[in-house]
Amino acid sequence: MNQISLIEYCRAANGMLPDNVYEALFDAAMNLGNGAVLEIGTAHGAATTAIGLGLLEKSSNNHIFTVDIFGGRYSSRSAFGSPADNIKIVKSNLARAGIEKLVTVFAGSSFAFANSGGCPDSLSMLMLDADGRIDRDFFLFYELTKPGSLIVIDDADDCIFLSRNSSDEPYVDLKHRITHLLVDRFQGAGFISDLRMISNTLFCRSTGKALAREPFMDMVIEAYRELVFSAGGPGWNDLAIIAPRASQARKALDLYDSVSKKINPVRKIIRRLGL
Ligand SMILES: C[S@@+](CC[C@H](N)C(=O)[O-])C[C@H]1O[C@@H](n2cnc3c(N)ncnc32)[C@H](O)[C@@H]1O
Repeated sequence: MNQISLIEYCRAANGMLPDNVYEALFDAAMNLGNGAVLEIGTAHGAATTAIGLGLLEKSSNNHIFTVDIFGGRYSSRSAFGSPADNIKIVKSNLARAGIEKLVTVFAGSSFAFANSGGCPDSLSMLMLDADGRIDRDFFLFYELTKPGSLIVIDDADDCIFLSRNSSDEPYVDLKHRITHLLVDRFQGAGFISDLRMISNTLFCRSTGKALAREPFMDMVIEAYRELVFSAGGPGWNDLAIIAPRASQARKALDLYDSVSKKINPVRKIIRRLGL
């Protein structure tokens, strides 16, 4: 399998992750032990393709279960039509890469999949890249991992973004920050080890530690509690650079608000205005 065609397949599947993450997924898939692969957040199957091609390369018989809600408020897939339209796109992308037989696509939420009766009972790899509710998906599926199983969590850097929703309204995006705060606690509590960041994506190992609901939920609430103090950190550096004073930062936000949603993030405005 040459790396150029790997990336071409991922890009043809509207892949949203950087090339080096798809390459790392491919490499990781070549080295998995026994057990299924579970991916939450298929989108159009780019990461699924990288993992599937890695499995194919090693003639592994691990099966991939990939789950996506394909619609609703927190799904970028709504822009591509109905869930049925999206499933068609995913299936044709998997077929193009020749991995369709390795993959079961589940259309529905992670919660629905966990309760569907079709969930595998042992995972060699768990990949979480859905709507930012890492706590929900970690709680649902962590216990299916074994010590040493690979866990991949996207958007785990500690960044805060200024973004816009589909109605063009600006909002502060704390998805990466909450993921980072949760991952910190998962590590502190001994659920994960061997953490390695590739771009914004965390690759780590399950320790297989038993997870009890109540202390886990307390830990999660503490992580969300910390969001209250989110001002600061690398995400705000963009604003801090142009305006140490609050009034100028506010002006920058007003400017951000007044320009097209295509010009994002704020850094581009700053550069354009030479501030
Ligand atoms: C960032 S995309 C995944 C990108 C993909 N891994 C890739 O390589 O291109 C996130 C996906 O998660 C899906 N999603 C959002 N909430 C979900 C949920 N509760 N259960 C399952 N999938 C969900 C969305 O529909 C969207 O397609």
